[in-house]
Amino acid sequence: MCGIVGAVSQRNIVPILIEGLKRLEYRGYDSCGVAVHQEGALRRARSTSRVAELQAQAAVDGVSSGTGIAHTRWATHGAPAVHNAHPHFSPGPRAVDGAPGRIALVHNGIIENHDELRAELQARGYVFASQTDTEVIAHLVDHLYAGDLVEAVQQAIGRLQGAYAIAVFCRDEPHRVVGAREGSPLVLGVGEAAQGEFFLASDAMALAGVTDQIVYLEEGDVVDLQLGRMRISALSASSPDSGRFETVHRTLRTVQAHSGAAELGPYRHYMQKEIFEQPVAIANTLDAVQDIRPELFGDGAYRVFKEVNSVLILACGTSYYAGSVAKYWLESVARIPCQVEIASEYRYRDSVPNPRTLVVTITQSGETADTLAALKHARSQGMLHTLTVCNVATSAMVRECSMAFITRAGAEIGVASTKAFTTQLVGLFLLTLSLAQVRGQLSDEQEQQHLKELRHLPVAVQAVLALEPQIVAWSQAFTPKQHVLFLGRGSHYPVALEGALKLKEISYIHAEAYPAGELKHGPLALVDADMPVVTVAPNDQLLEKLKSNLQEVRARGGELYVFADGDTQIASSEGVHVIRMPEHYGVLSPILHTVPLQLLAYHTACARGTDVDKPRNLAKSVTVE
Ligand code: M6R
Repeated sequence: MCGIVGAVSQRNIVPILIEGLKRLEYRGYDSCGVAVHQEGALRRARSTSRVAELQAQAAVDGVSSGTGIAHTRWATHGAPAVHNAHPHFSPGPRAVDGAPGRIALVHNGIIENHDELRAELQARGYVFASQTDTEVIAHLVDHLYAGDLVEAVQQAIGRLQGAYAIAVFCRDEPHRVVGAREGSPLVLGVGEAAQGEFFLASDAMALAGVTDQIVYLEEGDVVDLQLGRMRISALSASSPDSGRFETVHRTLRTVQAHSGAAELGPYRHYMQKEIFEQPVAIANTLDAVQDIRPELFGDGAYRVFKEVNSVLILACGTSYYAGSVAKYWLESVARIPCQVEIASEYRYRDSVPNPRTLVVTITQSGETADTLAALKHARSQGMLHTLTVCNVATSAMVRECSMAFITRAGAEIGVASTKAFTTQLVGLFLLTLSLAQVRGQLSDEQEQQHLKELRHLPVAVQAVLALEPQIVAWSQAFTPKQHVLFLGRGSHYPVALEGALKLKEISYIHAEAYPAGELKHGPLALVDADMPVVTVAPNDQLLEKLKSNLQEVRARGGELYVFADGDTQIASSEGVHVIRMPEHYGVLSPILHTVPLQLLAYHTACARGTDVDKPRNLAKSVTVE
């Protein structure tokens, strides 16, 4: 999704801006650009190609400066095209087409009142060169500019509705970049003192290798970067309606941001690498877990776990499916009622709040706008016990929640989430056990047994990964297909949903998942010889029911592809293809059954020649609504 990098320094910062964009590339984008203050004027390069192409273009054009901003754009308003790519310039009112700019600006987020502001600015003579909501902010800042950029930005953001992180500079103030945020992340980086330099970025990772001294800006902050000095301001806390800003202090942290440019090693794609990293990711996530204790989730967790009488899980996409598996665990093992909500729906839903609910957000990135908004919505309803299962310790979500479990999956570069999902499940199972313990539902013996199974998981996942050659062979049958059905039952129904999501995300094959018992209530009408039906078949209490559902498919000529536990009696026959998994892994079986579905999606996508790590239209971190 969109990425921002900005800098003020005495040295040429263009290579740092470009390198920062490269570190953000994996998040997904469709155009990119850089603008600098050079020889008294604004200069920019923009491209709908890769950042490497932008880099070449900037080099040819001799773009070089100590003041500049750069951006990767994931289109929301206006098609992916050069004229819509950031940075946007405002040359002032009544400027003729191509006039040099006075204000340069990049933006992440969505401005909801852009139509109204555009009409107002057009009436003042501003001419728009793009379809973006961002250009509105550039013209608005220009309109409010009276010689002090920070004042213009402070006034401008008072007119904006929606979410934004912006970085802006002005032709008339050569060594100054101003940033502001509300609803979208923005960090400040402190660079080399001798260069008097400061940086802005939408993610600390963009500054890896440049600085590890980071300030996480808070909602409503405006930051003024000049050579050798910086100031953060926010609306006066005592009289926010006055529109008056006052200086605020934010903590400077040392952050070990990982580099986005992780080595691929022997793998073809990051997704493949990340699938194969799962044994290590799970082991790392379990590393500090000696026993089951509420304190795994934070110091005050025991008191909260004692008090709550239900769980509300909020998440999107794959993280939502992790929550859907956890619902089965929480209700059957911890005996606590659990509700799982798609964050983008929940945030607008008129639901019935229960202050004794434990609100659990699940997010790989910790920056997903809908999940953050859903959390705030839950809090505004008086649900104050908040916990996140998140893969990024420095993310907004971890800062927003009072408790956290950090999964240790490591950086996930592929847009399709894999190791983040399985480590989320590990975190959620630990949460289940901790709640069960506090609620008197977990004996010492059961605790030891579960811990043993958890610790054995990396080896068990490794055994499933060894099935790859068989899955590669299957993928040939899926490559020409238009539609695929996935079936599962119980806690493996969300696994089927996750398998279908993986397949559609990266292979662009339409895939749907159903609880197998639901087939005859509609989707069976779709089944014919052209519709492969992938089935997750653990040897659990629903196996016999599942087998009957498979008969229903075969009777209609449907071709079955079954991932069956080694101790089931399901065997290959005409129209029934079986890959034998290890023996049933009990309550943790959903983790094992996820892995072959990831591999099936991956190899099918490879055979179809899609851009596996950066599938079309998708972004890694969905920081807009
Ligand atoms: O960072 P999050 O876990 O909050 O992201 C949620 C979804 O956007 C994400 O899981 C998405 O569905 C993935 N592309 C799935 O592979």
